[in-house]
Amino acid sequence: MSSISIIGLGSMARALGGLALKGGNTVEVIGRDVAKAAELARELGSGATTGTLGAVPAGDIVILAVSYSGSAQIVSQYGNALAGKVIVDITNPFAPGFTGLVSPDGSSATQEIAEVAPADAPVVKAFNTLFATVLTAGPADGRPLDVFIAGDDARAKAAVSAFAESIGLRPFDAGPLDMARRLEEAGLLMMGLGRHGVQHYDFSLGVTILH
Ligand SMILES: NC(=O)c1ccc[n+]([C@@H]2O[C@H](COP(=O)([O-])OP(=O)(O)OC[C@H]3O[C@@H](n4cnc5c(N)ncnc54)[C@H](OP(=O)(O)O)[C@@H]3O)[C@@H](O)[C@H]2O)c1
Repeated sequence: MSSISIIGLGSMARALGGLALKGGNTVEVIGRDVAKAAELARELGSGATTGTLGAVPAGDIVILAVSYSGSAQIVSQYGNALAGKVIVDITNPFAPGFTGLVSPDGSSATQEIAEVAPADAPVVKAFNTLFATVLTAGPADGRPLDVFIAGDDARAKAAVSAFAESIGLRPFDAGPLDMARRLEEAGLLMMGLGRHGVQHYDFSLGVTILH
């Protein structure tokens, strides 16, 4: 069982929060609109609570379910209130029209967040290659959905993997923090597939192990 705080009150917060509670984890939702946070907690049920933006989160794992443009700034504003937490960046820093990434070349949204996070708050990238609608619907063929995790801290990755398993996902370690850029590019690839070859967004990116 993990204790999860989710910053952000949108589609991904709703999808991950719902699954987290179903998986036996505790969930705190945090947003800049207090009434909206209370409404989401009520909607999620199962003991979901609300927290205060900027105050020490209740969860050991803090999921940043906000837009890329707000993510590093939020972590910077939290400062030491995030000390000792595992920070999970799920952002897809897409350029308008999905023409590229707006995170800096040679870096990633996750690395930008890691630069401003407390030294003892490891940052991992995860969940950015799973559409909220797909997470909520779950796997179609009984095979768990895959989640790719990038980060430099083995214990943080283990904690996020355990959480992922608790919500029915199959976690894969994608490598060190600089692989976050590759995961952001994989998010972009998914948008290309959705717009072209697949022609909808009801699909997931997964690993097929042959041997
Ligand atoms: N949707 C997907 O399928 C999907 C899949 C993978 C990854 N992602 C990534 O996950 C993140 C969240 O996506 P989403 O679809 O859940 O977005 P969303 O539905 O638009 O919700 C975004 C949430 O972030 C909050 N927010 C934005 N800037 C903020 C700030 N500066 N301070 C506090 N809260 C802030 C918004 O607050 P208000 O409610 O106050 O506006 C809103 O609650 C994005 O980075 C996205 O790229 C999304």
